[in-house]
Amino acid sequence: MSDHQIELQPVGRRGSCPAGETLLACAHRLGVELVSVCGGFGKCRGCKVRVMAGRFSEATPAEREAFTEEELASGWRLACQTYPQNDCRVHVPPESLGGQQRLQVEGRDVDVSLDSPIRSFACRLEPPSLAKPVADAENLLEKISAPGPIHLDIRVLRDLSTRLREWDWNLKAHIQDRELVAVSPPGSRPFGLAVDLGSTKIAGYLIALDTGKTLASQAIMNPQISKGEDIITRINFAIRSSDGRTLMANLVREGLMKLAGDLCAEAGVETVDILEAVIVGNTAMHHLMLGLPVRQLAISPFVPAVCGDLNIKARDIGLDFAPGAYVYLPSNIAGFVGADHVAALTATDGEWNHGNGMVIDIGTNTEISLITRGKITSTSCASGPAFEGYQIRDGMRASPGAIEKVYLWGEDVGYKTIDEAEPIGICGSGILDAISQLYLAGVLDKGGRIQKGSHSRVVEKNGHLEFILVPLEGDRRGPEISITQKDVREVQLGKAAIQAAIEILMEAEAVSPKEIEKVIIAGAFGTYIDVSNAIAIGMLPSLPLSRFHQVGNAAGIGAKLLLLSFAKRKAVGNLLSRVKYLELAGTPEFSKAFTRACLLEPYHLNPDAEGG
Ligand code: FES
Repeated sequence: MSDHQIELQPVGRRGSCPAGETLLACAHRLGVELVSVCGGFGKCRGCKVRVMAGRFSEATPAEREAFTEEELASGWRLACQTYPQNDCRVHVPPESLGGQQRLQVEGRDVDVSLDSPIRSFACRLEPPSLAKPVADAENLLEKISAPGPIHLDIRVLRDLSTRLREWDWNLKAHIQDRELVAVSPPGSRPFGLAVDLGSTKIAGYLIALDTGKTLASQAIMNPQISKGEDIITRINFAIRSSDGRTLMANLVREGLMKLAGDLCAEAGVETVDILEAVIVGNTAMHHLMLGLPVRQLAISPFVPAVCGDLNIKARDIGLDFAPGAYVYLPSNIAGFVGADHVAALTATDGEWNHGNGMVIDIGTNTEISLITRGKITSTSCASGPAFEGYQIRDGMRASPGAIEKVYLWGEDVGYKTIDEAEPIGICGSGILDAISQLYLAGVLDKGGRIQKGSHSRVVEKNGHLEFILVPLEGDRRGPEISITQKDVREVQLGKAAIQAAIEILMEAEAVSPKEIEKVIIAGAFGTYIDVSNAIAIGMLPSLPLSRFHQVGNAAGIGAKLLLLSFAKRKAVGNLLSRVKYLELAGTPEFSKAFTRACLLEPYHLNPDAEGG
C-alpha cells in the first residue's frame, strides 16, 4: 500500500502518511505537536481534530464515547484512533495544539555567594624546547596552582596538544574536583547550565559561573510528551516497548541539546563552552533521562532505582558540552517526590527555615512538604490532570485564548483569557476559579451537583446540566465553553487528593493548620491560581491570605543555586537528613480523608487538633 498525503490546517503542514500510521503519529512526525495526554489510548480527547476531506478508518469505540453522533458526522475524530485511507485534509483546533503552552521561566538572578565546583586558571606556558622537552600535559599541570594531583579527562587530553599550539601556549584550564574537564582560549569565560526538567516543559538557564549572571533563559516543551503527557503513561511506554527506555532517553537528550543550543546562541557562545550542568526533575523524568529502569516506580512500594545524588559525565548521557563536563543530579526523596522538589525546598529555605511552613507544588502529581520543628515530612498525591486543563470537556493547556480567571457576580459572568485572546477553552487556573465561583454563587451544592434553576446560564443538554461560561451570541463564532457536571467531578477529585494529603500530613505531625505560618506555592499552575478560590473549596487550608506565597518556578531557581554554590549542594545533604517520606497511596487514612475532602467547602480547622 502506498503512502497518503496529509495536510494539517491551519498550521499548514503537509507530508506523507504511510499506511498503518495513525493521524497522531503522522502529525508528531511532521512536527505538529498534537496533545496526547493519554499516550494515544483514546482516553483524553486531547488529540481531537476535524477531518475536512479524505477517507478514514471507521470510528472506534473510544471515539464513539468521546463524540456524539452529530459530532462524528461533522468530522470530529481522535487523531490517535484514526488511520487515513487516502489523501486527506484535517483541521487542528487550537486546543489540540500542544506547542504553545505558557511556559513559565524566570531569568532573574539568584542571591548566593559564588562557590562553583569549577575552578578556572589562566595559564601561559613555555613552549617545549630541546633543552626542556616537557610533555604538553605536564607542561600545563605545572602551571595550575591547585592543591593535590590533577587527573586528566581523556577527551581533553586528546585535544590538548593541538589547542596549546593553536592558542600559542596561552589558555584557560578548568578544573572540577581535581580533574581537568576543559581548556578554552585565553580571555574566555566559564559557563554552566541549570535545568528544570519537568514532565511538560524543560526550563533552562545559561549562567556565567564567574559572575552568577543568567545570560539566557528559555523553556521548551518536553519532547517526551509525544509518548504521553502524564508520568504513568510515559513509564508504561518505557516498559512496554523493547526500546522504550532508549527512545525516552533520546527524546529528552535531543530536547536538552536543542535548549542548550538555543540558550548558547542567544548568549553568543557554544554548547562546548558549558562546563557543568545541574538538572533537576521528578524521579520519573530523572530515570527516563538516564535510561534507568522505571517499572519499579509504578508498582508498590514505588521505589526509585537510585535516590542519592549523581555526578556523571555529560557525554555518558549523550550531552555534547565541554569535553570533560559533568552533569550533577541532586538526590530524589522517593518514587514520586524527586529532585525538583528538593531544588524547590533549597530555593525557598529562607522562607520556611524558621517556624512551621509548607511547600506545595501542584500538578498532575502534587508534592507537599510540611516543615515543623525543624523536621520535613514530604509526600505526594495523584491530583490528576484537571489542573493542567485535561479531562475537562472544554479544557486546554495554559496557552493564548485559555480562560484563566472566572468571576461571577449574581447573573453576571466574567472571565479573563491568556493574552486577552478570543476564548477557545479553559485552563487549570480557570477551571479552579469556575468551580469555586459556582459553588460560592450557589450554582453548585457542597456535593458538587449543578443546581437546576440556580442561574440563567444553567442549561440541560442531553439529560445533563451544564453551566455556559461563554455562550454563542452576537457575531461570536465559537466555540461555546461550558462547565459540565463531569468537569466538576474531575476538579473535586483533584482537590480532594491535595486536601486529603495536607490533612494527613498535619495529623501525622500533630500540627493544626493555624500553626502553619507560611504556605509556599511553587510551580507554574501555583503561580496563576487564585488562592482565595482554592481556599473556598477546601483545596488549601483556610488561613489568612498573607501566609500564602506564590513563588513561581522554585525548582528552576534551586537548580541555579546548586549550579553556583557547592555549599548549597552540601546543604542538601543536611536537608535530606531531616526529610521523612510519608507514603499515602492505598492507605486507609488517605481513602477516608479523600472521601471527606470531595465535598466543596472550606477546609475547616479541626477544633480537636487546634492546639496552637
Ligand atoms: S485521546 Fe488521543 S491521545 Fe488521548
